[in-house]
Amino acid sequence: MTKYMIEGGRPLFGELHISGAKNAAVAIIPAALMVSGPCRIENIPQISDVALLLGILRDLGANVRYLNPHTVEIDSTHLRNGRVPYESARRCRASYYMLGALLSRFGSADVALPGGCDFGGTRPIDQHLKGFRALGIQVDTQSGFVMAEAAGGRPRGASIFLDKVSVGATINIMLAATLASGMTVIENAAKEPHIVDLANFLNSMGANIMGAGTDVIKVRGVDRLRGGSYSIIPDQIEAGTYMAAVAACGGEVRICNIIPKHMDCITAKLVEMGVEVREVDDSLLVSRIGPLHRTNVKTMPYPGFPTDMQPQIAAVLCLAQGTSVITDSVWNSRFRYTDEFKRMGAQIQVDGNLAIIEGVEHLTGAQLEACDLRAGAAMLIAALAAHGISEITNIQYIERGYEDVIGKIRSIGGHIRAVEAPEEELSVSSAG
Ligand code: EPZ
Repeated sequence: MTKYMIEGGRPLFGELHISGAKNAAVAIIPAALMVSGPCRIENIPQISDVALLLGILRDLGANVRYLNPHTVEIDSTHLRNGRVPYESARRCRASYYMLGALLSRFGSADVALPGGCDFGGTRPIDQHLKGFRALGIQVDTQSGFVMAEAAGGRPRGASIFLDKVSVGATINIMLAATLASGMTVIENAAKEPHIVDLANFLNSMGANIMGAGTDVIKVRGVDRLRGGSYSIIPDQIEAGTYMAAVAACGGEVRICNIIPKHMDCITAKLVEMGVEVREVDDSLLVSRIGPLHRTNVKTMPYPGFPTDMQPQIAAVLCLAQGTSVITDSVWNSRFRYTDEFKRMGAQIQVDGNLAIIEGVEHLTGAQLEACDLRAGAAMLIAALAAHGISEITNIQYIERGYEDVIGKIRSIGGHIRAVEAPEEELSVSSAG
């Protein structure tokens, strides 16, 4: 087992290349099982969630091979329908996209419910199941598995109004509807960039999906998808995380290979806090010299401020002058990480889905335990900005979603190294 050791307190300078978007990749890989013929996916991030989903596809009989470190070819022509076991599903929530994809391809699916919970609250899937049922699919949950079967062996198009804007439900319903008979209309759909990316991927393989990126998505079912090539968009949250690191530590870093428009909601907050952000082609030049100013942040579905950047912006606000309030309106208990920040000297009070942060002059290094992916990323930022040395354990959470985090941080002057930790130092934790 490995932990990260970080010596903080240094400004960051240099240039960073952002990887392909994790949350697009984890939807596109399951979608590839619906394609008959070889399908080449470029700009795949090298992260553990991707490895896990490719493993599930291999277990179902897909031919998966890497053409280079960021390009994978998936041929699902001879894929069989089969149970996706708990052992695989519990380690990655996105494994539930296998449901929509298998239903589309075979008309039935048997997938373990994803286990654990990243944030300490519940993560319901009622809207996914409501969507499936509307498509004529009978759904049973038994012994931790979702067993779903379409009447007549094929989902049939329908109109679905989501009660809550849900990324996962929008994606799962889009997948199930792609090879359905007739037209599906998803209203109150999520609009995140990775939803548009999935729709673009499916359309490039022969699907007929319109309106992705708006709150009404129309999917006209087609009979089959054919092979092709597709390149995944850059990761909005990885880019935002490094922008927040520069804000917290000071310095100047060019964040390259991004879609600046996707960053607007994050850029706007950082600018309010006194960070300078300049757009240069497909990169952002982020610098911070002066003090950080307080602000309030409310997380919202896209194009609002993303909940997946909430812990990272909290790390920056811990060092801003004055009192800031964060409201997470997407997840109501995503503040578990604040106990770790307090051990670094941060002044934070949490009340339900609100965190009130009184900025301090500096944080001090401490032993920290990552409790989920973005909490782990926020601890990295706090540790890089803090005086002294920090240790972060449970780094497997961070490696689920950040490619080569050590190499990237070092390339901009951060002092971080991975060390082997004796077992007894590492706490036992369940995967989210
Ligand atoms: C996706 O999770 C992301 N995961 C999450 O990112 C992200 O935090 C979340 O969207 C919100 O942006 C992936 O894309 C793999 P939701 P998802 O369904 O799809 C409620 C990260 O750090 N809800 O949009 O699970 C739910 O409780 C991860 O990369 C229902 O009530 O999120 C929440 O309050 C963590 N019923 C809200 O909707 C449902 O059936 C949004 O959830 C589904 C969701």
